[in-house]
Amino acid sequence: MTVANSTHDLVVERVEAGYPGHLAVRGVDLTVPAGRVVAIVGPNGCGKSTLLRTIARLHQPRSGTVTVGGADIWQLGQRRAAHLVSLLPQAPQAPEAVTVAGLVRYGRHPHQGLFRQWSRDDERAVRAALDATGTTELAGRRLDRLSGGQRQRCWLAMVLAQETPLVLLDEPTSALDLGHAVEVLELARSVAAAGRTVVMVLHDLMSAARYADVIVAMRDGEIVADGPSREVVDAALVRTLYGIDADVLAAPGDGSPVVVPAARTPRAPAAAPAPAAAGPGKARM
Ligand SMILES: Nc1ncnc2c1ncn2[C@@H]1O[C@H](COP(=O)(O)OP(=O)(O)O)[C@@H](O)[C@H]1O
Ligand SMILES: [Mg+2]
Repeated sequence: MTVANSTHDLVVERVEAGYPGHLAVRGVDLTVPAGRVVAIVGPNGCGKSTLLRTIARLHQPRSGTVTVGGADIWQLGQRRAAHLVSLLPQAPQAPEAVTVAGLVRYGRHPHQGLFRQWSRDDERAVRAALDATGTTELAGRRLDRLSGGQRQRCWLAMVLAQETPLVLLDEPTSALDLGHAVEVLELARSVAAAGRTVVMVLHDLMSAARYADVIVAMRDGEIVADGPSREVVDAALVRTLYGIDADVLAAPGDGSPVVVPAARTPRAPAAAPAPAAAGPGKARM
C-alpha cells in the first residue's frame, strides 16, 4: 500500500514478533491514518503489548515492517525513531522520589543531544504537556505520593511532552476508576483532535467502542476484526474474543455498542421491599 510521506500515517505490514519458542504476533497488517484514535482489544496474552512494543521500536520483529509517515522505524536510529513514536507502557516504572516535573522533563531526552542542552522548546513542550493533562499544579510533587489517577495523568504528560506524531498507550485506564478512566480517554481524543495519532490497548470493550474511531480486535496474535465499533462489535465478536455470550445494545446518543454479558449463574431473588426503618443510605443485602 502507498502512503504519502508528508503525513504521519502508521503502516504495519506482515509483522511477526515473539519470544523464544513463542510467536506472539502472527502476521499483523494495520494502517492508521494520522489523527485517529485506535483501540486494540483482545483477551490476555493475545499479543497486544508485544505489537505495541514492536511499533515503538522496543521489541524487534522477526519479520515485517513498521513505518510512520513513510519512515521505517526499525531502519531509523533509536533517537530518530523516538521523535516519531512514544509509548506509555502497561506498568511504567519511575525512578524513586522523582517529581512530576522531573518525570515530564524526562520525556524530552530524545530531543537533547551532546551539543543541544535544555532549550526553550523543551520548556514549552513540558508546560504544554502539564497543561494538557491538568498536572501543572502537581509539578513540584513527588510522583510516588500521588493518587493513581493523578499519577496516570503525569505519565501521560511525560508521553505527550515527547511531541511525537504517534502516541501509543498500553492499557492506560486499567488501574483507574470510571471517572479517571474517562478523563484519560477524553485526553486521548483531544490529542488526536490536535492531529496526532493515538493507538491504545484497552481492556474494556465498551470504552474502546465509545472512544476509538477504529477497533482492532486481536486473538492468538492475529487481527480478527477491525473497523468502526458499530460495524465490528457484536455478540459474535465478544464470543470469539472472550468465549462468552453477551447482548450488544446500542447506546443512546451515538449508538456505540454496549456489551452486556449474559449471566450464567442466576442471581438471588429480589429482596422484599425494605421496611421504612432501613431508610436511605442503608443498603439491604
Ligand atoms: N518477555 C516474555 N517472554 C516470553 N513470553 C512472553 C514475554 N512477554 C509476553 N510473552 C508471551 O507472549 C504472549 C503475548 O503477550 P502480550 O503481548 O503481553 O499479550 P497481551 O498484552 O495481549 O496480554 C503471551 O503468551 C505471553 O505469555
Ligand atoms: Mg498487555
